[in-house]
Amino acid sequence: MTETTTNDDPDASGGDPQEAIDAQGALRREELDDRIFDHNAGDEQEGIPFVGAGPGNPRLLTVAGKELLEEADLVVHAGSLVNSELLDEYCAHAELVNSVGKDLEELIPLMRDAYEDGENVVRLHSGDPAIYGAALEQMDALEHEGVPTYFVPGVTSAFAASATLRTQLTLNEVSNHVAFTRPQGKTLTEEEDHISEFVGMGDVTSCIYLGTHAVRDTMDRLLEDGHDPETPVGVIYHASWPDEDVIIGTVGNIADKVEEAGYRASAMVVIGDAVTGAGYERSFLYGDWANRGSSDTNETETQAGDD
Ligand SMILES: C[S@@+](CC[C@H](N)C(=O)[O-])C[C@H]1O[C@@H](n2cnc3c(N)ncnc32)[C@H](O)[C@@H]1O
Repeated sequence: MTETTTNDDPDASGGDPQEAIDAQGALRREELDDRIFDHNAGDEQEGIPFVGAGPGNPRLLTVAGKELLEEADLVVHAGSLVNSELLDEYCAHAELVNSVGKDLEELIPLMRDAYEDGENVVRLHSGDPAIYGAALEQMDALEHEGVPTYFVPGVTSAFAASATLRTQLTLNEVSNHVAFTRPQGKTLTEEEDHISEFVGMGDVTSCIYLGTHAVRDTMDRLLEDGHDPETPVGVIYHASWPDEDVIIGTVGNIADKVEEAGYRASAMVVIGDAVTGAGYERSFLYGDWANRGSSDTNETETQAGDD
């Protein structure tokens, strides 16, 4: 396994990624990509796969992801967000490049050139690449350069957090919706931060990504907005990693607990009554209601949900 951290090829050039993104966006508005209808998620496809590594534990990588990594010559990975145990286990034979600190201008030619040289290239994102992964811009830039790409989904960290908490993110009579969200900061303005609205809805479980450093600010805003200080909050640091840690508290006291633990990154903040898993009622799925008035299986699924 070779760890490469810089691309020092002076001839490497990938054009202007923003132009590529705009051009791909324009194409997409005109006509949907045929591959949408020709392939299922999980299919083998031509091109560079954008693989979800899952939350950390190598056992939570998909079978498709594992097979692709085992065949890879070059793996461009998301640095410390991907567990090095996973890289050791499945990528020992491959060249490894840490994408942290590299811009599109560097990453795109690196992946393009390796692919055009006939190498198996895998772009490895943490969790699922479709959640706060900035994958599409890399894919568009590569596609614009004639390199096909596709997604291979992964287990997002919110799902690892709910498994750790031994709860469901949706729970009958407690939480009917899930919000994958992030707090205001460099990327999101105050107006774009909807955490308070989600919590105010009452039956939403809010899973906050990229918010470990901002737990106090987030909780202060919720309290200022008049939300119940007793609303349950779970903070799961490094869900599924060997050093996973779980902090359970409330909107009123979780900030002190997280600060005491010293976590500033890599945690999932879950807000809502589903955190404790208390107060739910039996679902209709395993009751008579599901079969009421119909012998049609599809209709039954529609009424009861298939969970
Ligand atoms: C850039 S986002 C990437 C999310 C990733 N694509 C996913 O689906 O989980 C990084 C954030 O995801 C969350 N995260 C990623 N891995 C985690 C884990 N194992 N446990 C808890 N939170 C995690 C943290 O909130 C972190 O700040």
